[in-house]
Amino acid sequence: MAHHLVTGGCGFIGRHLTAALLEAGHEVTVLDDLSSGDPATLPSAARLEEGCVTDANKLASLAEDMDGVFHLAAIASIAAAEANPERAHAVNAGGAANAVAAAARSHIPLVLISSAAVYGDAGPGAVSEDYPCLPLSSYGADKLQGEHYALKAADNGLSATIVRPFNVYGPGQDAGSPYAGVISRFIAAALSGTPLRVDGDGSQSRDFIFIDDLIRLLTACISRPRPGALIVNGCTGIATSVKALATEIGQLCGDNIRIEPGTGRSGGVAHSLGDPGQAAEMFGFRAQITLADGLRRTIDWQRGTNSQ
Ligand SMILES: NC(=O)c1ccc[n+]([C@@H]2O[C@H](COP(=O)([O-])OP(=O)(O)OC[C@H]3O[C@@H](n4cnc5c(N)ncnc54)[C@H](O)[C@@H]3O)[C@@H](O)[C@H]2O)c1
Repeated sequence: MAHHLVTGGCGFIGRHLTAALLEAGHEVTVLDDLSSGDPATLPSAARLEEGCVTDANKLASLAEDMDGVFHLAAIASIAAAEANPERAHAVNAGGAANAVAAAARSHIPLVLISSAAVYGDAGPGAVSEDYPCLPLSSYGADKLQGEHYALKAADNGLSATIVRPFNVYGPGQDAGSPYAGVISRFIAAALSGTPLRVDGDGSQSRDFIFIDDLIRLLTACISRPRPGALIVNGCTGIATSVKALATEIGQLCGDNIRIEPGTGRSGGVAHSLGDPGQAAEMFGFRAQITLADGLRRTIDWQRGTNSQ
């Protein structure tokens, strides 16, 4: 049994990860400033330390008693980061630097959650981890800088696994936030009888990975024993256009769901698709939940939330 530190453990991915680690018999301490996370959703067996990842001393002292660090805390959407770039830089790049330093000082492995946003617009093909990183957003640039700190520390003996999740979805994702992801927004619209609005021509595509699959990958990463760095995509290798996604959600949510053109341009990255080969080779990992199954589970959860 190990004791792990999970930064951002009150957020969507962090609380699923915390639950999985506890379920596996580990102890978990969560560091979260509750800026977007909800402590009520954290499993009660986890210990919550309220604080900010920009506090290097706090991170370092928490890491002293740990066997591993998962660093997830971030201003986690491109739009939210761009609304306040200075704060986002301090949290997303600075927080990563502090997590790297804390893990290195305590000689414990680090799993750093980066993002597929580091690739920028790589076109419609699947990107592997050695694809050149040309982020289009300050969020992606800050994530890339965080990776850089981990790579440097790994040269000096840190065991660092950098995970680049693509579009993660599933139960527990906040549909009410102005920065909600496309899946929770479409489901919320469908369940409330409002049209699903697809920006642009809807051909923009994403690699949607269900939360349980990503969590299996993250927990596998902490068990990687050797020093040095590894970068791994958290993806399915399957592209889905936003138009096809809207159609599928419409069909799963019932009759008479309308899909209408959105008022905005599609903007940002046109295509985002990961190559899952590295995760398969290093961890025997393959995403198992199909989009239809993952959407059904997410819709059931959002229906339950709406009726409360
Ligand atoms: N959700 C996705 O599709 C996705 C895709 C790629 C990468 N990621 C990355 O995964 C990680 C988790 O994302 P999420 O979707 O769970 O986001 P989230 O917003 O649900 O969770 C982030 C958590 O971090 C906490 N936090 C924010 N700033 C903090 C700070 N300064 N100090 C301490 N805690 C702080 C928040 O309160 C929240 O609990 C992030 O690093 C994000 O960039 C997410």
